[in-house]
Amino acid sequence: MSLIAKLEQIHKNARAAVADATSLESVDQVRVRFLGRKGEITAILRGLKDLSVKERKTIGGQANKIKSDLEMLLGQKKDELEGKQKSTTRIDHTLPGRPYYCGHKHIITQAMDEICGIFQRMGFEIADGPEIETDYYNFGALNFPEDHPARDEQDTFFVEGGLLLRTHTSPVQIREFEKRTPPVKILCPGRVFRNEAVNARSYCVFHQVEGFLVDTNVTFADMKGALLSFCYEYFGKDVKLRFRPSFFPFTEPSAEVDISCFLCGGKGCSVCKHEGWLEILGCGMIDPNVLACVNYDSEKYSGYAFGIGVERPALLRYRINDIRLLFENDIRFIRQFR
Ligand code: PHE
Repeated sequence: MSLIAKLEQIHKNARAAVADATSLESVDQVRVRFLGRKGEITAILRGLKDLSVKERKTIGGQANKIKSDLEMLLGQKKDELEGKQKSTTRIDHTLPGRPYYCGHKHIITQAMDEICGIFQRMGFEIADGPEIETDYYNFGALNFPEDHPARDEQDTFFVEGGLLLRTHTSPVQIREFEKRTPPVKILCPGRVFRNEAVNARSYCVFHQVEGFLVDTNVTFADMKGALLSFCYEYFGKDVKLRFRPSFFPFTEPSAEVDISCFLCGGKGCSVCKHEGWLEILGCGMIDPNVLACVNYDSEKYSGYAFGIGVERPALLRYRINDIRLLFENDIRFIRQFR
């Protein structure tokens, strides 16, 4: 047997002997047998001096490799028998499991889903529109005069190419009217943008749910009925509504709707600023000019529209005192609203 084959054989035997060792004593015996003063590998290393220079190099290199492999294995085995683990990931199987946090919808999405659900049960269909709009859809077709202050850059974010970020969801009215013929009964939840000073009560981004209906013989009373049903379901049966005359270029007549404060029941508290009422939406009968813009016959058809603010009721309901918390996406905040 060549010397190199003999070495291989010793290596194999030594590895097997380490694997078979079941006590610290037997590990030591294996060390002595192979690496001790009279050990098998030591003997080979001792004999190197009688070899040719070339052989000395190959055999010596191989023997040293085997020696360090064996030392490593012996060390490992020793650790193992002494109860030490090779890695630091010791698992205590008796510990209770760690629960995984399951994701959930953001508080605003929850509110929008709830609002949409109520109107969907009244037969409204969901539609969507772009957040980047043209002047025509956001203002012109909605009967805003050229010099209306809402067109001012103090309120509107303009983007390149003469486009703007929609300041309300009402442009979806025009987009849907262009695609459809009455009867139309649509709901559009979405994000809107206004260039306002950011503080605890107002933010540059917020959400609205737009609703609109066009058909024959639609009256203000129909709108009142729909909004009343919505408020009863969303805020509870005890809620009272107040329609205040208002103005929007695209509705006539127009109103803003207040609900009795659901925190104090209308008695007055810090949330409603001791007024007992909270403003939640704008609404009105669609202006004939808007219907004309989309070639609907305003002699034959009439309609109503409303835009509900999503953030305010949600903030009040959960008593959140800063609207910015809704947009910062701090997981510690968000997790509280499963
Ligand atoms: N678009 C209006 C706003 O953002 C709300 C509104 C919608 C009013 C529909 C009337 C009809 O303030």
